[in-house]
Amino acid sequence: MSTFPDFVRAANIADNPDTYQRENEAIDPSGALWNGLRQAADWAGRTVLDLGCGSGFWLPRYAETAARVTGVEPDDTLLERARDAAAGDPTIDVLPGSAERLPLADHSVDVVHARFAYFFAPRCGPGLREVLRVLRPTGTFVVIDNDLRHGEFAELLRESPWAAPQGTADVTDAWWVDHGARRVEVMSAWSCASGADLESILRIEFPAEAVDAWVRRHPGQASLSYGYALFVVDGSTGDARPAR
Ligand SMILES: C[S@@+](CC[C@H](N)C(=O)[O-])C[C@H]1O[C@@H](n2cnc3c(N)ncnc32)[C@H](O)[C@@H]1O
Repeated sequence: MSTFPDFVRAANIADNPDTYQRENEAIDPSGALWNGLRQAADWAGRTVLDLGCGSGFWLPRYAETAARVTGVEPDDTLLERARDAAAGDPTIDVLPGSAERLPLADHSVDVVHARFAYFFAPRCGPGLREVLRVLRPTGTFVVIDNDLRHGEFAELLRESPWAAPQGTADVTDAWWVDHGARRVEVMSAWSCASGADLESILRIEFPAEAVDAWVRRHPGQASLSYGYALFVVDGSTGDARPAR
């Protein structure tokens, strides 16, 4: 499955890659998140690392404007899917690796994105140090995390024991501020073709009873509001901070 010691299997995508693909397709219909990411650090004409790239859904999207894209993924099965997603595009590389073991040279990347992968504060100091090793001093690291305070998805997260490893908003925010990050909130949504489609996606993210209760409160609802928290670390300043 994976030989990387810091690997934590992500059941939502690893057990349900096709449903997770539909989740990614439902994300951000207005483009608010994508615009927020571009404002944090535009990747047009630059090198991008998608760290913990899963099945590689986002790799071709970065490649539309990036000079080069690298996807790194520790889960062997997802790695194969990511290779398939990138097949035929010579600007994309897909490599085995993990947040604490990046197969990249020092100061070789302009923009690093970690989307719901590994960087759940406060246990991510070693990964931050490794990202700062591969990031150019002019580069930017953006962690794409859940906003645990705002939006309907956050309500579900707060009720779910499965989300407990993601930590609490106050601890997460304090850790990132302490490590040189600025925090950016983006409100977006998930938008599905039907209520049944949204329900099937929620079922890979939350326990059955939490989804059952949500569906009873929102019968037939095909979309929900979704708050993102971006933690943005500059390559020039991040290194100076004590990465614990
Ligand atoms: C929820 S999935 C998100 C996948 C992808 N970023 C996306 O948004 O489609 C979390 C990913 O992190 C990967 N992962 C697990 N442990 C990791 C580690 N130590 N370093 C980097 N990625 C890791 C999982 O294998 C999985 O692909």
